[in-house]
Amino acid sequence: SGHGNQTLPAAGANPVLPEGLPLRELPRLSNQSSVPGLFKAKLAAEPGFVRFADGLDTPVLLYNGTNPVIEANEGDKVEINFENRIPGEPTTIHWHGMPVPADQDGNPMDPVASGGERLYAFGLPEGSAASYWFHPHPHGLTAEQVYRGLAGIFLVKPKNDPIPPEYGDTVLMLTDLRIAPDGTMPENTMADLMNGRVGDHVLVNGQKNPAMAVALGEKRRLRLYNATNARFLRLRFENADMTVIGTDGGLIEAPVAVNELLLTPAERVELIVSFDKPGEARLTTLDYERGWMGPGKPNEAGLTLLTANVSDEMMAAMPPLPATLRSIESLGAPAITRRFVLTESMGGMDDGSMSMSSGNMEMKFLINGASFDMNRIDEVSKVGQVELWEIANEADMDHPFHVHGTQFQIIEHEKEGTVSAPPYRAWKDTVNVAAGETVRIVLRQDLPGPRMYHCHILEHEQLGMMGTIDIQA
Ligand code: C2O
Ligand code: CU
Ligand code: CU
Repeated sequence: SGHGNQTLPAAGANPVLPEGLPLRELPRLSNQSSVPGLFKAKLAAEPGFVRFADGLDTPVLLYNGTNPVIEANEGDKVEINFENRIPGEPTTIHWHGMPVPADQDGNPMDPVASGGERLYAFGLPEGSAASYWFHPHPHGLTAEQVYRGLAGIFLVKPKNDPIPPEYGDTVLMLTDLRIAPDGTMPENTMADLMNGRVGDHVLVNGQKNPAMAVALGEKRRLRLYNATNARFLRLRFENADMTVIGTDGGLIEAPVAVNELLLTPAERVELIVSFDKPGEARLTTLDYERGWMGPGKPNEAGLTLLTANVSDEMMAAMPPLPATLRSIESLGAPAITRRFVLTESMGGMDDGSMSMSSGNMEMKFLINGASFDMNRIDEVSKVGQVELWEIANEADMDHPFHVHGTQFQIIEHEKEGTVSAPPYRAWKDTVNVAAGETVRIVLRQDLPGPRMYHCHILEHEQLGMMGTIDIQA
């Protein structure tokens, strides 16, 4: 073949995403209110286009065209006027991890019809500062609406932040994308339904391997979000040092240095990264055995997600990271224990027929033997009751387990008789329950109403691995 077309991708080739562009900061949603202590804005879920690869416009769904970050303060009241401009589909906004009233939390039972509007109103209590996010939660459509693009960051800032402002505060929203040669997003395959949809490209704030310029000796505060449907991210920072300062529900008690960390779908971590060596420092992935079913396990190791270019010149010394950040109280002795058993049922697959068209395929992901039913209450609890939840994963793959409406504390992980307590106390709303493992958590719900709990591999949530607990006043 000739040389004439060499700069154009071959017909049918997989799109190439540009790498190394300067890291983009996510846009902020501006506050329309001038009343102190009130955050008020409009959000619309709507179709749009994003140019991920040269010359290709990918149809997506976005909030306000850009998925802006909402940033508010502890103690604020929040009023979001929401409009569903998605043609032909209901949606909701779920405020992931936030202590909002049950009827404001975007449950599948409270859909906003296509063309419809509603007000989401809630307060941000003292002590609620953390890295939250928001995404749709309509019955049977959550996974697809999220992979098509709908998700945003909700930062709640504390009254007194112990982290030096010199470290900045950078959100790194990790998503993953699969696009076909024509720029569209292919529908889920059978493997996607079983394992969750894992994209071909991991993006940081919508970009592939963006570049960040830092000075030698600089410390940066980075908030990492796993906003993918199903990708397990085992992360390390090559040539830089990572210190964990916060989890899903905000700061931990004291900084903890780590070499690597596992961030499963919906989890967040706040890090201080110290760039003490010149050259390139790269955020990369390591392999993780999450129990992939069938062929086609994507390459999860050796990806570079972000490259920090560290200058040769030493910057003036930064203020030190405080030795203590805040205290996290114990929730006290649980009044009751609940047990949740996670299983998979793959009826119709024993003959190896995995084709979607075979019609007899019955794949379900279950909690206590049941598949999600919007019209059923699975558990009943009381406001203010401290509970121990024992989540036993009897399935062949890991399931990141999430509870709405509150934050919990992990007590221990147990696998094959070996019990391990977490290395530090932390507020969490999502915890990975590895295959064969039992995880014990303690929690309390302070607001009445129905709350969901589910696997945050969104395809599993959609295939039934979700339940409803009704919290009674
Ligand atoms: Cu982010 Cu019901 O979840
Ligand atoms: Cu949630
Ligand atoms: Cu799952």
